[in-house]
Amino acid sequence: MTRVVCPGSFDPITNGHLDIVERASFLFDEVIVVVLVNENKSGLFPIERRLELIREATTEMENVSVDSYSGLLVDYCAQNDVQAIVKGLRAVSDFDYELQMAQMNGNLTGIDTVFIPTAPDYTFIASSLVKEVARHGGDVDGLVPKHVLAALDEAYGH
Ligand code: PNS
Repeated sequence: MTRVVCPGSFDPITNGHLDIVERASFLFDEVIVVVLVNENKSGLFPIERRLELIREATTEMENVSVDSYSGLLVDYCAQNDVQAIVKGLRAVSDFDYELQMAQMNGNLTGIDTVFIPTAPDYTFIASSLVKEVARHGGDVDGLVPKHVLAALDEAYGH
């Protein structure tokens, strides 16, 4: 059985993330979406809320579960018998940093990272941009699930 993680900040989860999670769920037996807690980054949504939003978005995906962790991703993987890390790659600009992280993680415990190319329709989507547009009242419909859209409206008081 192959268990993998899709790690990230997911502040909030976007349709781009979901596409990667769903495709990973077709490729592997079990997928855990892990929200990593970054103490240096105060996000828009508290971790518990991010988890709720992810849970609601993945209810139909039977082999997908959701978790959070504060610490090194490789430690989470070792503690939870995870065989590989799955990451989406949007563009060449993602590649430098993603390769560096994949190699660092590999160096730490030998864990491998599998890259899945983002679907062309989602290449420009990033949580940070979605938040910026939503904050100013711009239209992010179609970039995030409907319940995330509602959560963004609520967070920004629209
Ligand atoms: O969605 P993001 O912010 O691009 O995800 C980055 C994330 C959370 C996957 C990365 O920062 C991470 O793995 N953080 C956990 C701490 C860790 O293991 N750091 C070493 C990475 S080589």
